Amino acid sequence: MLVEPPVKAEVAVIGGSGVYSLPGLANVREYKVYTPYGAPSDNIIVGELNGRTIAFLPRHGRGHRIPPHRVNYRANIWALKSIGVKWVIAVSAVGSLREDYRPGDFVVPDQFIDMTKGVRAFTFFEGGSVAHVSVADPFCECLRKKILEAAGRHSDIRVHGKGTYICIEGPRFSTRAESRVWRDVFKADIVGMTLVPEVNLACEAQLCYATIAMVTDYDVWAEKPVTAEEVVATMRRNTEKIQKLLPDIIGLLPSEPCREECSCCRSLETALM
Ligand code: ADE
Repeated sequence: MLVEPPVKAEVAVIGGSGVYSLPGLANVREYKVYTPYGAPSDNIIVGELNGRTIAFLPRHGRGHRIPPHRVNYRANIWALKSIGVKWVIAVSAVGSLREDYRPGDFVVPDQFIDMTKGVRAFTFFEGGSVAHVSVADPFCECLRKKILEAAGRHSDIRVHGKGTYICIEGPRFSTRAESRVWRDVFKADIVGMTLVPEVNLACEAQLCYATIAMVTDYDVWAEKPVTAEEVVATMRRNTEKIQKLLPDIIGLLPSEPCREECSCCRSLETALM
């Protein structure tokens, strides 16, 4: 017998550093979701926004309790999938590896490089059933376009429509030598700690997933070393902007994933099984 989950949501927002709530949600409810992978980062907040049912999950838990390498990414993605989510808008803080991606800017990356160290559980396919999912184009193109369209309506938001996100293990920042490798050798544009394996798991779960990366600093290829205070201060300003932007993105989303433009919801059909 199939049992319906007690709550359903179409769109999820995964909040990153500085984004621990979603103002403007009406009829707010909170759910503890159980998963085969253990507990998600926090209870899932569900409410109405722009006529849609939205789920909000703070990646690091409320109060920022969970470091990037300890986030239970599988539980988070599984929990969102289990309540019917089709779209995931992920928000994260990143450092910039290029002059023209300035602190305070937003980037909607189209590629990533994985420099995590293999300590994170990164797949739902651990054996039994095996799938090799393509991540050639890891982000939902349709969702990326909606984010860019919505951001274009805000004169105070500088947004870059492309970028390669290099995901490091953390929780420490990069050394100067590493930062120069990310920038000069790997040609990455931004550096963060949380994209992988969240994006991979979203692909495996056939979710439409895109990230809004909020630049907080120039990392350390530039002269001054990054400090946690710098990240937090810019993050505060970014948080105000993201909270204005999210309702507009949600308002632009079609009722069903755009199957012609993206193949996210069919990723297992094209996977090597
Ligand atoms: N998050 C914010 N700034 C960062 C940086 N410079 N490196 C890694 N993750 C970050």
